[in-house]
Amino acid sequence: MSNPAGFLTAFAHALAAMTLYADGHPARERAIDAAFQALADLQAAERHPLFTFLGDEIVYGQLPLRELRAWDWTPRLAQAGIQRLEFAEPVTQEDFSEVLDEVLARLTLSAIDTSEARQLRRSSIRFGSVGVKGEAEQPATPVATTAMTYSLTEEADAVRWCQDEVRSRGVVPLSEAEAVVRSLAIAMHGGHHIMIPLLQLKEFDQYTTTHSLNVAVLAMALAEYTGLAPRDVRAFGIAGLLHDIGKVRIPLEVLTKRGRFSDEETTLMRRHPSDGARIILQTQEQLDLPAVVAYEHHIMLNGGGYPTLQIRRECHRASRLVHVCDVYDALRTDRPYRDAWSQEDVLSYLAARGATEFDAELVTAFVQMMRQWEPRLAVMHDERSAVIPGETAPGRPVTPTPGESAPDGA
Ligand SMILES: [Fe+2]
Ligand SMILES: [Fe+2]
Repeated sequence: MSNPAGFLTAFAHALAAMTLYADGHPARERAIDAAFQALADLQAAERHPLFTFLGDEIVYGQLPLRELRAWDWTPRLAQAGIQRLEFAEPVTQEDFSEVLDEVLARLTLSAIDTSEARQLRRSSIRFGSVGVKGEAEQPATPVATTAMTYSLTEEADAVRWCQDEVRSRGVVPLSEAEAVVRSLAIAMHGGHHIMIPLLQLKEFDQYTTTHSLNVAVLAMALAEYTGLAPRDVRAFGIAGLLHDIGKVRIPLEVLTKRGRFSDEETTLMRRHPSDGARIILQTQEQLDLPAVVAYEHHIMLNGGGYPTLQIRRECHRASRLVHVCDVYDALRTDRPYRDAWSQEDVLSYLAARGATEFDAELVTAFVQMMRQWEPRLAVMHDERSAVIPGETAPGRPVTPTPGESAPDGA
């Protein structure tokens, strides 16, 4: 029986269950199954259900959905930038879960920023439709997820908020970190081709925030490029996002220092991998991958870097992958003590150190990916500006000194 209000209620119930219960929890699975079933029932009567959220009103197809007038989810969805929800046949369970993930990511991001500024500004991602990609029999029906304009405002705000939480409460807010990564994944796949949005801000005190976002994006891109499944890609993204979380323990004046570090400051800087791993593990044991990556991301293939392992062993693939992305982003960014390197200089620097400092296979894949996807790079010098794919920051050519290793600031 066609019941659009029943479907939306089940859909909202599934979103609520997803915020409360971890992946695999029976209550979460049940709520998702119920919403999926409600959609199947709805599609038995209407093959292309379309919901539009207008202010506090919902329109189903052409008609207002009176049963859900003043439904409290309508403004929440609209505020999160979701104005349309559209489904086309066939919708698989996997497609449906992906839509739920995307919607939840937008809702989580828009909920955690309590600043008044949010009231005044519009959401940075506007979905022309949040749809399910399927083989619609009528190709004219727009069903793909469309990110019409994109900036990293929400994501940067959310990362700053996560860092503040870690600083003040000592725990990593996992669902918000996951939401940031899902949102980045949406940005990367909003169009017909993959896009790699990167931030390069001039304010040095924002470095850890922009760097964390960039490393997450690059780690996800490289994970995808090397053939990992979407779930693993996101896991690598979370590891990339949290790799430098231990830096919350380092005073800003050290992080933004212009000159060389004193011995004491070097010791402090070199503690961020173990501090980060400890902070992450204190939050949740399920974050073992980000903890491992936080601990290992400065360890070189040849055992150099820090911290020094008591017994020499190979680092996790995710750590080796994040290591490459980490050094790339550090060198591509203006730092208080040096200008950004040019794209080509950084890629040559990385390639020259394959099989000594970096995993040879991963560094080769990274360089190849950056060359192949160069037109898909979208570098923003302002987190609030929309992305223009293909535009990269020129950087200033700097010849790498032989033997010079990446700065501690990575
Ligand atoms: Fe880093
Ligand atoms: Fe680091």
